[in-house]
Amino acid sequence: MSEKLAIVTIDGPAGVGKTTISRMIAAHLGFTCLDTGAMYRAFAWMLAHIGKTAEDLENDDSMLSMLGNLEMQLLPPLEGQENGRVLLGGKELGPELRTEEISCLASEIASLPAVRKMLTAVQQQMGRAGRVVIEGRDTGTVVFPQAAWKFYLDADPEERARRRVTQMRNRGEVGINEAALLQSLMARDEADRNRSIAPLKMAEDAYLIDTTDLSIKEVVGEMLVRIQIEPIE
Ligand code: DC
Repeated sequence: MSEKLAIVTIDGPAGVGKTTISRMIAAHLGFTCLDTGAMYRAFAWMLAHIGKTAEDLENDDSMLSMLGNLEMQLLPPLEGQENGRVLLGGKELGPELRTEEISCLASEIASLPAVRKMLTAVQQQMGRAGRVVIEGRDTGTVVFPQAAWKFYLDADPEERARRRVTQMRNRGEVGINEAALLQSLMARDEADRNRSIAPLKMAEDAYLIDTTDLSIKEVVGEMLVRIQIEPIE
């Protein structure tokens, strides 16, 4: 019996298309999806909601216990939606998880060891049965190093910012400051890559795809070929 788990990990920087691609790979394989970034975002949202900062969370253990005691549920997206549904403490969180403010706060709290320890354990619990596509920054390096198929997706920051802008326009958002969006994306990359715990980096045994000049369909096709030529059973 193989020691590898029937898990696909997809790591990479912000805006590279991990969520869309995860959904397509999962649909093809009949696996479920686990968006680990949504979990950091949900904690960040709750923190902002109660008027607290990452520093408050770092300095007050009771705040982390409060977050840990809230039930977190990740459900598949509703018809026609891209992101999965997130429920925290019974409250459904939607577009409010995807604001610039929450993106930055999620990245900040993701550098706190106690937060990572808690969410990594939850992710390992959620994915332990396998047949899951899990995406984030450290899913192939820390969360599931025994995953059978590991991918690292990358793309030039300018291209990732362009994709984000298109996504936001398609959602009907107006007045998008593209230069500010690029700056913020690069700042988040920098923070995610350079934190001391579980930084964004490619697992040694991951397969790298530079998606800058590829369509989503091409990326998914390349990934499915890799998965097929490396069966675990
Ligand atoms: O994938 P995302 O943009 O929704 O993630 C939001 C933030 O959460 C990201 O800036 C870094 C953090 N994150 C992380 O540190 N580890 C993960 N496995 C997933 C996300």
